[in-house]
Formats: sequence, C-alpha cells, structure tokens
Amino acid sequence: MVGAADVTADMMKELFDTNVFGVVRVLHAFLPLLQGSGAPVVVNLSSGLGSLSRLTDHGTPTYGYPGVVYPASKTTVNVLTVQYAKAFPEMRINAVEPGYTKTDLNGNTGTQTVEEGAEIIVRMAQVAPDGPTGGYFDLNGAVPW
Ligand SMILES: NC(=O)c1ccc[n+]([C@@H]2O[C@H](COP(=O)([O-])OP(=O)(O)OC[C@H]3O[C@@H](n4cnc5c(N)ncnc54)[C@H](OP(=O)(O)O)[C@@H]3O)[C@@H](O)[C@H]2O)c1
Repeated sequence: MVGAADVTADMMKELFDTNVFGVVRVLHAFLPLLQGSGAPVVVNLSSGLGSLSRLTDHGTPTYGYPGVVYPASKTTVNVLTVQYAKAFPEMRINAVEPGYTKTDLNGNTGTQTVEEGAEIIVRMAQVAPDGPTGGYFDLNGAVPW
C-alpha cells in the first residue's frame, strides 16, 4: 500500500473508480428496481479502515495502517451509505465491515475465512423492513464512524 509521502491524485482516481464511483454506478442503475421492491435492501462493502474513529484511535491496528487511498475510499462509501439511507427511508441501506478475510485483496493473509467474512454481509442483506438503515456494522454490532 502507498503512504502519504507517495500517494498521487491518479492513484486516488483509479481506486475511487472501483470502490466509490462503482458503488454510485450500481446504486444509480438499481434504484428503479429497489424502488419497485417490497423489501429493498442495499449492503455496501466498507471496511474497518473506513472508520475515522478507529484510524485516530492510538495503539490500534487500524491506527497503524499507513495507506491513504483505500481508507479514504471506504470512508466515502460510509458517507454514501448515510446519504442514500436518508434519501430513501423506505430502503434499508447499510455499510458493513466484513473483518480481515483471507482473499486476493490481502494476498490471502486475512485471519478469517470467506464464509466468516460473508456472515455480516448476508445478515445485513436479510435485514427486516423495520431494521436498521444508514448504519455501519460488523459481526459485533455497530462500528464507530
Ligand atoms: N478481504 C478483507 O479482509 C476485506 C476487509 C474489509 C473490507 N473488504 C471489502 O470487501 C470487498 C470484497 O473484497 P475481497 O476481499 O473479496 O477482495 P477480492 O478477493 O480482491 O475481490 C474483489 C472483487 O472485486 C472485483 N473487482 C475489482 N475491481 C473491479 C472493477 N473495477 N469492476 C468490477 N469488479 C471489480 C474483482 O473481480 P475480478 O476477480 O474479476 O478481478 C473481485 O471479484 C471489497 O469491497 C473490500 O474492500 C475486504
């Protein structure tokens, strides 16, 4: 990962194109279907690295993460989650932190399985129509913004 000394705007653009603009493209394309659904649900894949509370919490692993672009993209996903949830109160739109999961993203160094990482995603995809919206969750509950 690239730290603050070397990050460029072009790097930001490339990663935001997938992690942020991709979310906007998908949400925009799916809005008519969501608006026609009896139980519209969106689960945005965020990360614990998108939590400004954790990034500024001295002594935690998140605090020590030096990358700039990925955390910025996930904090932005959190903003999208909050703003879309407010705009569409009839929908359940939440962000999730799956946990450090063994995938290509981290060269398979994650400490939990894909099945474990998928658990909170599936749970929030099944949220009831009167369940939470505009929130940020991991397996243990609400994640601090
Ligand atoms: N793994 C973790 O520890 C962890 C922790 C927190 C959050 N997350 C989040 O969880 C989500 C899934 O990550 P992962 O760990 O499963 O990563 P991954 O194994 O690297 O998979 C990423 C997936 O995204 C697809 N993708 C990448 N760029 C794309 C693009 N421009 N357009 C369309 N699809 C694209 C890839 O498709 P191809 O295979 O076709 O390239 C792949 O299916 C991500 O949002 C990640 O930030 C992961």
